[in-house]
Amino acid sequence: MFDLKNRVAIVTGGSRGIGAAIARLLGSLGAKVAVNYNKSADQAEAVVEAIKAAGSDAMACQADVSSYADAERMVAAAGERWGTVDVLVTSAGMNWDGVIWKMTPEQWQRVIDVDLTGTFNFIRAVAPGMREKRFGRVITITSINGLRGKFGQVNYAAAKGGVIGMTKAAAKDLGKAQVTCNSVAPGFILTEMGESMPDEFKQIAIDEGVLKKAGKPEDVAALVAFLASEAAGHITGEVIKVDGGQYI
Ligand SMILES: NC(=O)c1ccc[n+]([C@@H]2O[C@H](COP(=O)([O-])OP(=O)(O)OC[C@H]3O[C@@H](n4cnc5c(N)ncnc54)[C@H](OP(=O)(O)O)[C@@H]3O)[C@@H](O)[C@H]2O)c1
Repeated sequence: MFDLKNRVAIVTGGSRGIGAAIARLLGSLGAKVAVNYNKSADQAEAVVEAIKAAGSDAMACQADVSSYADAERMVAAAGERWGTVDVLVTSAGMNWDGVIWKMTPEQWQRVIDVDLTGTFNFIRAVAPGMREKRFGRVITITSINGLRGKFGQVNYAAAKGGVIGMTKAAAKDLGKAQVTCNSVAPGFILTEMGESMPDEFKQIAIDEGVLKKAGKPEDVAALVAFLASEAAGHITGEVIKVDGGQYI
């Protein structure tokens, strides 16, 4: 597919779902991968073992992405072990849905802290090293619901819309240093987050898509691998959907 040998990648939310598929694929393409997790230590370790079995190196790293100190610590740990960070994928995310007339300030704030501030924290922490190296690939994971909004998701849609604006602004800040920044917008993907939707909403998501099926984490990982590769070196500031035509 693509050669990522000698590349060092950080994948936030690499313990489960889309992030785990991304970490495994980048590792199988030769990248050394720092697999971030918050609570799922065993699952992060399984991803690390799979990458090592495929012949590359990996380590699991606990960090709550909403903490800037945690982000700096993780970026420093990857740098100490491998000397550099070339690729950042921000897949850590959560939803905590509720209609706006019932959403609590806590519900709003936690989703903003994890999904939006968590993305900032990691881009901020890798940016100096990437600028110095004059190479970098930043790939954020947004959602089609950050583009179109969704019933019951004002917090999530605001965070994911913010991720898109942040990615475009970061592309402008970092472009001169040859650091590309792109955002991937999945539609309905079968993960624990996707599965947590009520059956009725899952069916609506499938019916909305022109391909009439849910996506797999690997569908998202394939695009991320391309964006991380040399081949994508002239693509920056883009938002690319992986949604089976759910939001055309
Ligand atoms: N599934 C979908 O249909 C879909 C659609 C569009 C966009 N997305 C986006 O894709 C990304 C991955 O989603 P997913 O479906 O793979 O979700 P998932 O299966 O629920 O996995 C969520 C991941 O995020 C991590 N995470 C959550 N809070 C964290 C925190 N505070 N600090 C560090 N890590 C944290 C989890 O780590 P621990 O378990 O270790 O805590 C886990 O690895 C998210 O940004 C999500 O918004 C998903």
